[in-house]
Amino acid sequence: MDWDALSAACPQCNRCELSDTRHNVVFGVGPRDAEILFVGEGPGEQEDLKGEPFVGPAGQLLDEMLSIIGLGRHNCYIANIVKCRPPHNRDPLETEQEACMPWLRIQAKLLRPRIIVCLGRIAAMKLIKEDFKITREHGQWFEKGGIWFTALYHPSALLRDPGKRPETFRDLKTLQAKVLEVCPDPAKYDVIS
Ligand code: URA
Repeated sequence: MDWDALSAACPQCNRCELSDTRHNVVFGVGPRDAEILFVGEGPGEQEDLKGEPFVGPAGQLLDEMLSIIGLGRHNCYIANIVKCRPPHNRDPLETEQEACMPWLRIQAKLLRPRIIVCLGRIAAMKLIKEDFKITREHGQWFEKGGIWFTALYHPSALLRDPGKRPETFRDLKTLQAKVLEVCPDPAKYDVIS
């Protein structure tokens, strides 16, 4: 399946019950040849209404965090584990995650990213390892099948607990170092001041 077929098929999905209550499928945004893929948990209210990931308050913080290290929607792809909003922003159920993962797997196959950054516990448990502990293991690196994986605290967690921000700043610096190490064209990631 290519990008055009995928982006046409995905909005028709009704593999789980989240499709009953969604306004929009939040497919993902960014260049289709991005070397860095960010994966959140699932759309919130504003993302559901707009059909775009991370456009609410957490998204604004994410954009600010990424701009510190020369990253953003212009050079990264941003998606979620589930593409439809869980009611009342509850965690997506395991069955919903499993139903939705084939879409993300195809996106990752087409993108072939060098780096995948999980935003929060849910994405890290799904993509890195089942028993991932975000408080202990954020900022660590895991290599699987030639792709480098790490996890950051979810931006919503940083909004709730600003005390976690210094740790995240350090994690962003390790992410920047990894980008410069493994992405072939470092000029794409110049910090714009
Ligand atoms: N939180 C997420 O995990 N994903 C979004 O797209 C928005 C908020």
